[in-house]
Amino acid sequence: MTLLSVDLREGTKTVHAEAERSKFVKYFFKGELTPAVYGRFLISLYHVYSTLEKALEKNKENPNIQLIYFPTELSRTKALEQDLEFFNGPDWRELLAPISPAQQAYIDAIERCSSTKPELLIAHSYVRYLGDLSGGQILAKKLQKYNELPEGKGVAFYQFDTIEDKDGFKEMFRKRINQVEVDEATHNEIVQESCQAFIRNIDVFQEFDHELVGLPLSKKEQEALDAAQAEEAAKKTSSLLSSLAPSNLINNLAVAVGLKSSA
Ligand code: HEM
Repeated sequence: MTLLSVDLREGTKTVHAEAERSKFVKYFFKGELTPAVYGRFLISLYHVYSTLEKALEKNKENPNIQLIYFPTELSRTKALEQDLEFFNGPDWRELLAPISPAQQAYIDAIERCSSTKPELLIAHSYVRYLGDLSGGQILAKKLQKYNELPEGKGVAFYQFDTIEDKDGFKEMFRKRINQVEVDEATHNEIVQESCQAFIRNIDVFQEFDHELVGLPLSKKEQEALDAAQAEEAAKKTSSLLSSLAPSNLINNLAVAVGLKSSA
């Protein structure tokens, strides 16, 4: 069997590229996310991390989970609480409900792994924590730069205070992943679950798409928008034509002159 860390990196290459290309990440990168949108994004992260970290804690006696469980170094729930307060104010907990469909699907997936096959939580830890220690660090710099955040404020999520050498930690984490003892089918399932986890992140990003305004649309986005607008116009025309059909015309006239109610 090949090394799990190698299969994870190779197996998720395509979805990683897709995540990087998503509209939300592009906006994040160019500093075009408003603090209000970022504040709501933090809420979705809070749901994901509080679920994941409870699931890891629950399964910490599992020898494979033990290998990759580093609550002191990695847990993000507390850091997220600080950022949530910074961006959303002291009443941020009131914003935790309702949970959006993409967030709920992500939560459900983590809980399913936790109760059916805890080894699959390795996939969720890999996607989020190695991501936060990699591309996440670049995003934090953008966030700080574009929002002119006061020193150390609003970016607690990306700061891993107890990790001195992030690259060294990532290397150690990959080694631990390689020590996980599972059969080949489970090994492959972990890679599959990681791809799924990327897709769940992309789905969460997409829920913000309609709130993103500012950057010019790509050709593909422009074509999709044109098609949606054409469909909308066609619907309006067909409903106008049907209201002009003789029976409807008489009916509409009767309503207009008060001979008939519109209900
Ligand atoms: C603009 C957005 C992003 C950029 C620029 C970016 C960049 C990078 C880079 C440069 C690495 C390699 C780091 C290294 O090997 O030391 C990396 C790794 C990784 N990224 Fe991203 N990333 C982005 C978005 C994401 C997202 C949205 C996720 C997941 C939600 C993610 C998850 C990961 C993971 C799991 C790895 C570890 C790969 C491995 O070594 O096995 N990244 N990223």
